Amino acid sequence: MLLFYEPSTRTRHSFELACKALGADSVSLAAASSAVAKGESLADTVRTARALGADAVVLRHPASGAARCAAALNLLPVINAGDGTHAHPTQALLDLFTVRQRRGGLEGLRLTIVGDILHSRVARSSALAFARTGARVTLCGPPTVLPPAAGTALGAHVCHDLATALRGAEAVMALRIQQERQDGGLLPSAAEYRARWGLDAARLAAECPTAILLHPGPVNRGVELAPDLLDLPQSAVEAQVRAGVAVRMAVLYLLLGGEAA
Ligand code: CP
Repeated sequence: MLLFYEPSTRTRHSFELACKALGADSVSLAAASSAVAKGESLADTVRTARALGADAVVLRHPASGAARCAAALNLLPVINAGDGTHAHPTQALLDLFTVRQRRGGLEGLRLTIVGDILHSRVARSSALAFARTGARVTLCGPPTVLPPAAGTALGAHVCHDLATALRGAEAVMALRIQQERQDGGLLPSAAEYRARWGLDAARLAAECPTAILLHPGPVNRGVELAPDLLDLPQSAVEAQVRAGVAVRMAVLYLLLGGEAA
């Protein structure tokens, strides 16, 4: 059962398509139109999913740690489809897959992640995953949303100047500016953000002309990315979405008892 307490296009529908491709039935529960809106707790919703015959739960939730709490009930396997600002593990897997397909491997990769690192579960999961493969990961963004400790925690370098962070990068990931998670004006205005940390063709051409361009979506065109960047051949943003189905098929298959080839 797919339990989505936050909006989603890519993750939810790629899990649905992955289930279909594997011959599994999937049922989606959108929190806003379910008994969650009447106050049902996460634990009771997971219990209800099990009573309805679900073999596993795919959970997206605004609270960091929600997937761990649901898994700790020991009722059903729980796959984290994004929890608060904590983690988005299947996004990290599809990012690795996309770059490996485009580049032919991950060894020695230089990846730069640009944006609001503090609030980004994608940055957290992907930085850790790429660093584990031996990649050199650089985090870049406004100092208010890129604490120095983030580098140590995620095995990454921290750089606040965009040109320096982009220099020589082989893959560049822009993050969505998440207005819904801003709590107290940590970000500059959209105009200042665009001027100092927005990606455009001239910046990429000057510092990393062949870099693979990644974005987890949805994109705020004209803020973190210039509107035309997604049309460049180096953009892998649609490839990321396509990879999401195959990667989530693999996750479902392996976590629910399939064997690795
Ligand atoms: N990348 C991502 O999680 O997108 P959705 O919010 O559309 O699922």
